[in-house]
Amino acid sequence: MVTTQGLREQAGSEPITMLTAYDAPTARVIDEAGIDVILVGDSMGNAVLGYESTLPVTIEEVKNRTAAVARATENALVVADMPFLSFGVDEAETIHNAGGMLKEAGADAVKIESGHHTVELTERLTQLGIPVMAHLGLTPQSVNQLGGYGRQGTTVDAARTLLATARDHQEAGAFSLVLEHIPANVAAQVTAELSIPTIGIGAGADCDGQVLVITDVFGLADRSPPFSAQFGDVKAEMETAVDRYREAVETGEFPADEHSRSDPELDELY
Ligand code: KIV
Repeated sequence: MVTTQGLREQAGSEPITMLTAYDAPTARVIDEAGIDVILVGDSMGNAVLGYESTLPVTIEEVKNRTAAVARATENALVVADMPFLSFGVDEAETIHNAGGMLKEAGADAVKIESGHHTVELTERLTQLGIPVMAHLGLTPQSVNQLGGYGRQGTTVDAARTLLATARDHQEAGAFSLVLEHIPANVAAQVTAELSIPTIGIGAGADCDGQVLVITDVFGLADRSPPFSAQFGDVKAEMETAVDRYREAVETGEFPADEHSRSDPELDELY
């Protein structure tokens, strides 16, 4: 079983693999393929819940889907994403929300979109036994502040601030750090500087691991960011299966005899 400690040991020797999942069948496939970490990301907002952004995603939506993923996962580390405003407003509420991901949903850790404001929070949650994966660079929950989904850490000042904030989260006890959509050379320096693993998305090849959103990997997304990649065409397979089903029903080919049974004693009801 993958543990937060195991990931630290893996960093630098073998790349860490992480994918998102939002349901049990997908989690099972990912887990059986030997992926190290399954993130129940708030990317579910765009990926599967039909929202325009991640902002409307609720704690209950993430919790229910984390529970489904955790039930189907035997080996991977399951990380639940903390949705917009489910943390950082009130300490007791944050602890209740983050703790519920472990206690009720069966997650192994939580991920928090991070900044200066999450350093103390990371320390508090870690002290309480809730492992925290920090997340810096492009943090989509701040889309209204950032003015879009552009690359972050692109000036010397911004890159230095990012590095300092990364260090602060490591000191606060974060067990790993997601770096999203930042210059590859900045991610490489953060990775070299930290002892905790970095997991990149749009952050180059020098991070300790990589993460992608599963609907991008499957070719199921309507829109994908420029740094994502498609590794299959699941949408085409789904379309074929649905077309075949429709045709089979319309032509009377389905259901066939083997799909149902008649009981002779029920032949004459009237
Ligand atoms: O919500 C998510 O899926 C994420 C990953 C893209 C890191 O935050």
